[in-house]
Amino acid sequence: LRAFFIFSALTLLLTGCGVDNLSALKPKGYGSDLLFDLMMISIAIMLFVFIIVMAIYTFVLIRYRQRKGQEDFIPKQTEGNKALEVIWTVIPIILLLVLAVPTVQATFDLADESTKGDEGVTTIEVTGNQYWWHFGYPDDEISTSQDLYIPTGERVYLDMKSSDVIHSFWVPSIAGKMDTNPGDNDNTMYLEAYEEGVYWGHCAELCGPSHSLMDFRVIAVSPEEYDQWKEDMQNVDPEATAEAQEGQDLYENNCMGCHAIGDGAAGQGPNMTNFANRTKIAGVIEPSKENLVDWIVNPEQFKPGNQMPANLVSEDEASQIADYLMELDHSDVGASASE
Ligand code: CUA
Repeated sequence: LRAFFIFSALTLLLTGCGVDNLSALKPKGYGSDLLFDLMMISIAIMLFVFIIVMAIYTFVLIRYRQRKGQEDFIPKQTEGNKALEVIWTVIPIILLLVLAVPTVQATFDLADESTKGDEGVTTIEVTGNQYWWHFGYPDDEISTSQDLYIPTGERVYLDMKSSDVIHSFWVPSIAGKMDTNPGDNDNTMYLEAYEEGVYWGHCAELCGPSHSLMDFRVIAVSPEEYDQWKEDMQNVDPEATAEAQEGQDLYENNCMGCHAIGDGAAGQGPNMTNFANRTKIAGVIEPSKENLVDWIVNPEQFKPGNQMPANLVSEDEASQIADYLMELDHSDVGASASE
C-alpha cells in the first residue's frame, strides 16, 4: 500500500500538476482530448479488473483459510474446469476489444490530414536542434524559434524534422508527442488549441546533456491576433536605436553568422527576429538583461553541450549586444497571455 501511495505521488509529480498548461490530465486541445479519453478508458478497465481480482482474492483468503482442528485437512482436489477457462479467456478478449476500438479510432483521427494544404490552413515547419526549436512559416516567410505562435480554434499542421539527432516535440496539454528525425524521415502532426494561452512544451527524447532543458512554448492567440502577429513579423525593422547602435554592429560582426534576423533560413542558431518577445531566454532562463549577458558570455553554464561558443565577446560587448537584442520587440500579440 505504501508503494502504491509513493507511486501515485510520483505519477502526480511527473505529470507536472504544479505547472499550468503542462498536463496531459487537463486537456485544452483536440489531440490531448483524444489521448485523455483513452487514458480514462484504460484506467476504468484496469480499475474494474483490479477490483474483481481483489474481491475474489479476499474471498478465497477468508473462505479457505486454515481452521483450528483442521491442520491435516486436505480439500477436494480439482483439475481443469472448462466453464471457468472459457470465462477467463473471453472476458480479457472483450476488455481488449473495448480498449482497441477507440485506440485505433484515435490513431487514425490523430493522423488525419484531410484539410492540410487547404486555403487558409497553416502548415508550420518544426526543426529540432540540440537544444532549441526552429519554427518556419513558409507561406508567410516568417522564421522564429522557441515560441511557436498558433491561432486558436483551427487545426495547424506541423512538418517535423531534426537537424542533428532524434528529438521529440511534446505539448502535453494540447497534443500528443511526435519524434523529429534527422534525414528524410519527416513526421507530421497537428495542433488544435481550444483556448488562448501559453502551453508548455518539452523535448521528450533523450538527445544529449541538455535534453531536459530543451523547452519551448506554444502561444495560442485568437485568429485576429494571429494575423496581426504575422503582419508584425513581416514588417520587422531590425534597425537599432541610437543607444543600441554599437550593440547592433557587434551583433552583425559576431552573431549574425548563426543567428539570422528576419526570414533567414533555419541557421545554425535560433532566429532572433522577435527575441525580446520570448517568454524565456534559450527556453529556460528568465528574461532579464543580466541573465542575457551571462548567457552570451558563457551559455555552457546554462545549457551544457550547446553549440554556442563561450567568450566570443567580452562582458562589455555582451552588454551592448543585449541592449540591441532587447529592442527586438516587434509585436504585442500574446504578451498578455504569457504574463
Ligand atoms: Cu531534444 Cu531531448
